[in-house]
Amino acid sequence: MGLSKWVPLCALLVVHSVMVTADDGLLRNGDFETPPPNGFSADGAGDGPVLIPEWKSNGTVELVESGQKQGGMILIVPQGEHAVRLGNEAEISQDLKLEKGSIYSITFNAARTCAQLESLNVSVPPASQTIDLQTLYSVRGWDTYAIGFQAESDEGIVVFRNTGMEDDPTCGPIIDDIAIKKLFTPDKAEENVVVNGDFEEGPWMFRNASLGVLLPTNLDDETSSLPGWIVESNRAVRYIDSYHYSVPQGKRAIELLSGKEGIISQMVETTPNKMYNLIFSLGHAGDSCQQPLAIMAFAGDQAQNIHYTPIANGTFDTANLTFTAKAERTRIAFYSIYYNTRTDDKSSLCGPVVDDVRVWGVSGSKRITLGWFAVALMFVFALL
Ligand SMILES: *[C@@H]1O[C@H](CO)[C@@H](O)[C@H](O)[C@H]1NC(C)=O
Ligand SMILES: *[C@@H]1O[C@H](CO)[C@@H](O)[C@H](O)[C@H]1NC(C)=O
Ligand SMILES: *[C@@H]1O[C@H](CO)[C@@H](O)[C@H](O)[C@H]1NC(C)=O
Ligand SMILES: *[C@@H]1O[C@H](CO)[C@@H](O)[C@H](O)[C@H]1NC(C)=O
Ligand SMILES: *[C@@H]1O[C@H](CO)[C@@H](O)[C@H](O)[C@H]1NC(C)=O
Repeated sequence: MGLSKWVPLCALLVVHSVMVTADDGLLRNGDFETPPPNGFSADGAGDGPVLIPEWKSNGTVELVESGQKQGGMILIVPQGEHAVRLGNEAEISQDLKLEKGSIYSITFNAARTCAQLESLNVSVPPASQTIDLQTLYSVRGWDTYAIGFQAESDEGIVVFRNTGMEDDPTCGPIIDDIAIKKLFTPDKAEENVVVNGDFEEGPWMFRNASLGVLLPTNLDDETSSLPGWIVESNRAVRYIDSYHYSVPQGKRAIELLSGKEGIISQMVETTPNKMYNLIFSLGHAGDSCQQPLAIMAFAGDQAQNIHYTPIANGTFDTANLTFTAKAERTRIAFYSIYYNTRTDDKSSLCGPVVDDVRVWGVSGSKRITLGWFAVALMFVFALL
């Protein structure tokens, strides 16, 4: 065997050992199942600050156990036996090894405990995002969220902070299952100007994340967990997988929730005065969502509402909208027209599924000539 075969391999190993960054998946003790040095204490907080392996904490931070009660209410532990609860202004943090300039997404589960408004400030300074836990998207009492950020250096720290100041200091959100994923921005396919139009690249999803991952608004923060896309509204959209939902193409898609309050958009590069087709899959997620399902699709100054009509055993249909670009960048966007809930559970939000979004220039001078012919014809009709 020639030596030359080994050289690239060695080079690869060297490069690899230099850049040891966090692997995709759960953070160290990201599920809070590693026992503290003095063991889990059955009735929550003992004396003094609680030690959580791999995490730093400040303020009233408590490890809660599945089945644990508070004021007659059983605390929600999203996964496994343990989770963490953050009291007033309390926080937990963990150091992260990152790659400067790269985009990452952090996925986590969060639940409210008391009925008050609760919100979490999740930050990887200088990036930060506040997650409003007031809206529950599913009846089980907790949801999975993902937020995106760009690494400003190779050393980062992720901080979860409860910004609340409740009368009852033990009220506060419960968090569990914190994972990270380094995102890449897929190349645009030839002809199609939409980036990540098939939604295959997105946040970390636990294999058994049966209710998808909520993507909250990222308008003020330009980095989303969905490369190419912006969640523009004050409510979240749901990132779903083919293991638990009907997905038109590939393994991932977006389920639009909360009517006009859940908008995704992308600015695509266009040539002014050129004609384009916006083509996408529109369907149902297979989650017993109450019909009717319909979306509003925007392409520049064009807006069109499109109803999804289930045909036979199909789970989706292809929609097609023609527009003429007015500028070098055109906004395409989607929201659900209705505010849908599941037929089997009226408290869980659902909605139409959008996937495989493509914007293609209408090519060939023939079609353009035909277009002009149509305009001329309309003009003649108008005169008549
Ligand atoms: C803990 O939080 C308090 C109040 O938010 C702050 O003043 C203090 O510096 C923090 N301590 C550490 C060690 O971060
Ligand atoms: C996912 O499955 C694993 C193994 O099957 C299990 O240990 C874990 O608790 C599950 N997580 C959730 C969120 O259900
Ligand atoms: C969230 O935390 C970050 C970092 O500590 C801070 O800069 C930001 O102002 C906080 N945001 C809110 C809304 O409290
Ligand atoms: C729908 O699916 C069922 C069961 O898979 C099958 O028996 C039926 O022929 C299908 N109908 C159509 C129109 O494809
Ligand atoms: C979309 O409609 C245009 C005409 O308006 C047609 O040329 C094109 O083939 C259609 N594309 C798809 C995928 O249906």
